[in-house]
Amino acid sequence: MKTGLMKQKEYTSFLRSVPAFKDLPVETLSKLADALEADHYPSGEYIIRQGAKGNTFYIIAKGAVEVTRRDSTAGEEVFIRNMNRGDWFGEKALKDEDVRTANIVVSDPSGVDCLVLSRESYKQLIGDLASFDRKYPDETAPKRAEEFRHLTLK
Ligand code: CMP
Repeated sequence: MKTGLMKQKEYTSFLRSVPAFKDLPVETLSKLADALEADHYPSGEYIIRQGAKGNTFYIIAKGAVEVTRRDSTAGEEVFIRNMNRGDWFGEKALKDEDVRTANIVVSDPSGVDCLVLSRESYKQLIGDLASFDRKYPDETAPKRAEEFRHLTLK
């Protein structure tokens, strides 16, 4: 079993090795290390399902996942990108609405180790940071298509 101190040291040094986190104030890193919980997910598991409600934010410590999304016209699940160690996901449902905007599927045959943060800790520690306010290219696509249709019908 890990003691609180071991967890602190291990998670803080992991966060220091990840570009997205390494420049955060020492105090924030230490609070994050306290609040994070480790979890393992086997290959093929959906860590997050599009459309479901969500209350957690994830950082990949080891392994890889795929981001996929249901295409609204074809209804098929399409591949968006891979994510590996140091990548993070799950911030969208904690920001705007509480609904997940994509699927996160474990693609690594050995599964994936994640560090998981609750909605409350996310809000307190990183929710206000601009660097975690990621905009995805496909988010604006349906809107653009709608605008285009509107213009051509005029
Ligand atoms: P959330 O909507 O909470 O759950 C699914 C997550 O997938 C989402 O947060 C983002 O972290 C991530 N995600 C959604 N869309 C994309 C995208 N187009 N590219 C990369 N990651 C995405």
